Amino acid sequence: MPSNTAAWQTAPKVKPLEVKSAPYTSPQENEIVIKNGAVAINPIDWIIQDMGKMMFSSLKYPFILGFDTAGEVVEVGPGVTRFKVGDRVVGHANGTDEKYNSPAHGAFQLYTVLLVNAASSIPSTLSYESAAVLPLGLSTAACGLFQKDQLALQHPSTSPKPTGKTLLVWGGATSVGCNAIQLAVAAGYEVLTTCSPKNFDYVKKLGASQAFDYNSKTVINDLIRAFNGKTTAGAISIGSRAAENCLDILDKCKGDKFISMASYPVPQPPPKKFVILSIAASYLSGMAEIWVKSKTRGIRTNFIFGSTLLYNEVGKAIYVDFLPQALAEGTFIAAPDPLVVGKGLEHIQAGYDLQRKGVSAKKVVVSL
Ligand SMILES: NC(=O)c1ccc[n+]([C@@H]2O[C@H](COP(=O)([O-])OP(=O)(O)OC[C@H]3O[C@@H](n4cnc5c(N)ncnc54)[C@H](OP(=O)(O)O)[C@@H]3O)[C@@H](O)[C@H]2O)c1
Repeated sequence: MPSNTAAWQTAPKVKPLEVKSAPYTSPQENEIVIKNGAVAINPIDWIIQDMGKMMFSSLKYPFILGFDTAGEVVEVGPGVTRFKVGDRVVGHANGTDEKYNSPAHGAFQLYTVLLVNAASSIPSTLSYESAAVLPLGLSTAACGLFQKDQLALQHPSTSPKPTGKTLLVWGGATSVGCNAIQLAVAAGYEVLTTCSPKNFDYVKKLGASQAFDYNSKTVINDLIRAFNGKTTAGAISIGSRAAENCLDILDKCKGDKFISMASYPVPQPPPKKFVILSIAASYLSGMAEIWVKSKTRGIRTNFIFGSTLLYNEVGKAIYVDFLPQALAEGTFIAAPDPLVVGKGLEHIQAGYDLQRKGVSAKKVVVSL
């Protein structure tokens, strides 16, 4: 049995993560174990470290966090036929899910247990560092776009059928946004998006037809004008004030009036002082604005929880039916590009710190 090591969150708010031994856990039915080649950092990782388990009340310390991993299959569970030992895969680690609440399923260790339907094979040309950027951004975008309780769009394929509808992706240069643009295009939708002007070319390379500066004073009117004559498929809102802005835009457009919200109305990046008070105040006023605008304008909204697809038909539609073929054919690329902070579990804390400062169209990655 291999010896395992992990970057542990030993108690709420403790920094740095403690790198020490961890049990090696063999896979159950519908599971594989991979030797992680690279892992990626998401905002939720340092949010849990900074704020304790507020959003994941079932977490039991000590814990191993981490959602994004890519590596080599070392063991397959009973009945698993989709993968064999030696396969190169990318996977969404689900250790924080209430159903599992299991350190063995966290990404920030040498060996991680993955659900088969949360993993996809990757081409030999895709490095583990590049592949590791995908999982939580991809899953969150897919939950928002395809779940029946969200936008419920047509599913993606490598030969999409045009729907004639246009989706608004607010926050196209975020990890979630880069995946949302590509998934929506692969599902047959035109995409309008927002980002900083320096990322206009990048989001267009991913498939957006037009990009708008979210910091421009005229961005809302510019987008309303751009939607003129089009039928909306709704919006996915990512980033500060994204949902509030999407409500103003969809109010003036023809088509589906639904917003899938990836971001809660809290300041991003978080303020340095009086963090809890100012986050709570921002959250309450943002929620109130979203509630009033959605009720008075007849626009439905729903928050996304980026792991829910692992337990419904969307997980299979993405990780089994779409991603392996789309990556192999090059119709879907791993985006945004990785920003590798170092090699070894000791570098995960530096990865948290860099992600917290903010990145632009990049995913913070640690090689293992
Ligand atoms: N609900 C869920 O399950 C779930 C899961 C994952 C993430 N999220 C949330 O989704 C958001 C994005 O996460 P991520 O990991 O994708 O982020 P990320 O990659 O760290 O986002 C960085 C990007 O954010 C863009 N950005 C910053 N402020 C913006 C704004 N006001 N409007 C539009 N874009 C803005 C910047 O674009 P430019 O560089 O172009 O300025 C930058 O490239 C966060 O709020 C995160 O908490 C939610």
